[in-house]
Amino acid sequence: MTLSTSMSPANRTGIQSSPIDSKAQLAVPASLREPRLVAATDAAALRGEYIVDADALGSIPPPGTVKGMAKAGLQALKGNRAQVLLDKIAERLAFERAGTRLYDQIITKCEVLADASDDAADATPMIEGLRQIRLDEISHAQLLVEAMERLGGDPTAQTPSADLVGTEGMGLLQALSDPRTTPTQCLHALLTAELADNAGWELLIDLAQHYGQDDLAQQFAGALAQEEAHLARIKAWHTASVLGETSLLASVADALSDGDGAGGARVGNGPARGVKAAPVERGATAKSAERQPRASAVKKAARSASRATPARHPKRKDH
Ligand SMILES: [Fe+2]
Repeated sequence: MTLSTSMSPANRTGIQSSPIDSKAQLAVPASLREPRLVAATDAAALRGEYIVDADALGSIPPPGTVKGMAKAGLQALKGNRAQVLLDKIAERLAFERAGTRLYDQIITKCEVLADASDDAADATPMIEGLRQIRLDEISHAQLLVEAMERLGGDPTAQTPSADLVGTEGMGLLQALSDPRTTPTQCLHALLTAELADNAGWELLIDLAQHYGQDDLAQQFAGALAQEEAHLARIKAWHTASVLGETSLLASVADALSDGDGAGGARVGNGPARGVKAAPVERGATAKSAERQPRASAVKKAARSASRATPARHPKRKDH
């Protein structure tokens, strides 16, 4: 497979590839190079008309049954903008469901590339780790379905925030499903997803606490602990892959050789937000919620990757 950092003279996208034409292009009157207010352009004016006339992105359906209305959770939230919590639960549910699909893509890609290489065994730890994370995402989706039902909401309904994250995630799915993207590039896309996922769970915990749903907040904190482990793993794998890109599978395996790859810098606020994390029993890696990411893992991954690519990272001499 072609490395993402391969050089090719066929790439003529930059201005340096055509000095004469680029010089002529830049030789425009100074008056035309003066910055203009974006709002003054016709395109911005047209967009403005659509913005003014646009409907809302969606809405939140009321509970579909009388039984749903009578649910203790929703009654307790009545008059307290319950729809905000329902909308954000629906958002996380949409994100976790989409996250499962994202992991499907990278798992398939890594399996196919491992089968085609001589280093299949080296890739096994990371592929197993990716499968575990995927199972966690499924268990989080199930947790959110139950939370929504407990509050009398409909977990199958599309709410505004669910719609929004679905649209945001389209770019990530495109990046991961593109057959040309490397595992390293896919890990970068997943890093984006996990960063947003961690922030989303933190907000959901705050909201649940705000609305007096302490039991839910506790369950959500358990999910957040697992998401923090996901982020640390993806970050460590991505760092190792970038630094050792000339031997991706080997460098990742090297970074994982001293453990399960859950290491990495401590990220997010996690359960330290005053909420005791409840274990997420359904997840295949409930133990990961108890593990504290090791701060030294990223450095170790970088060292391992450096050893794999001595030509690109020559030893510095002391001066
Ligand atoms: Fe995750």
